[in-house]
Amino acid sequence: MNKLRKILRKKNKSKIVCLTAYSKSIAKILDKYCDIILVGDSMANVLYGLDSTHTISLNNIIQHSISVKKGVKNSLLVVDMPKDTYLNKDMAKKNAKLILKKTKCDAVKLESNNKNFNIIKELVKSKIPVMGHIGFTPQFKKRFKLEGNSKHKLEKLLNEAKNIEKAGAFSIVLECVAPNTSKVISKALKIPTIGIGSSSNCDGQVLVTDDMLGLSGFYPKFVKRYARLDRVIEKATEKYSKDVRKNKFPNTKNFLNE
Ligand code: KIV
Repeated sequence: MNKLRKILRKKNKSKIVCLTAYSKSIAKILDKYCDIILVGDSMANVLYGLDSTHTISLNNIIQHSISVKKGVKNSLLVVDMPKDTYLNKDMAKKNAKLILKKTKCDAVKLESNNKNFNIIKELVKSKIPVMGHIGFTPQFKKRFKLEGNSKHKLEKLLNEAKNIEKAGAFSIVLECVAPNTSKVISKALKIPTIGIGSSSNCDGQVLVTDDMLGLSGFYPKFVKRYARLDRVIEKATEKYSKDVRKNKFPNTKNFLNE
């Protein structure tokens, strides 16, 4: 069965596991446990130290995705389309095709502005699998806050999600969506919902790997730190620096033989 069908079949049966990756070494580890690996434009903040995701380039995303692809065998590889790379149908098609051709990924993800359903439709018509993204969408919204937390907002988000499904997306990310709204949307859609900060009412979960590993310094309440790699790296670096300064490293064991 192909990777995409496998994901779709999980709806109402088993939870979908998704994490982000920006490099081969990390992707290779995640691939053993994830259903989906996402090359997110969160790399702008996490990797490049930028204030927002807005300035990451298509080329940046492509280069990191090429690296990630080398570590992925089993998971579905989804690549984020950066802001302003899908402003109209032709631009979206050209850039999505370029991403697919260069990275050999399985699908692209684009954020919804509650208007760009025709872009999804066009990509799907061109046989490009698309993942949608609603709720807090950093490419379009400035304030990081809970979304869909009133009856009116629930209806609005539900409509948006239905339109994305109707346009042909195979899945949809719900970011920072209120628990009950996530529940209503996940029940109403046939395609799987992948939540981040949107409770366990979604069909799957995604986290930014650097957050989950305690490396990014960004830990809102919905991020569970499964490791403290910051501490591990600090300890290792301290030890290394001491060894070098005391001339304990390298020792004869580290010398290369002729
Ligand atoms: O860019 C990203 O990593 C994302 C996830 C937060 C879903 O879009």
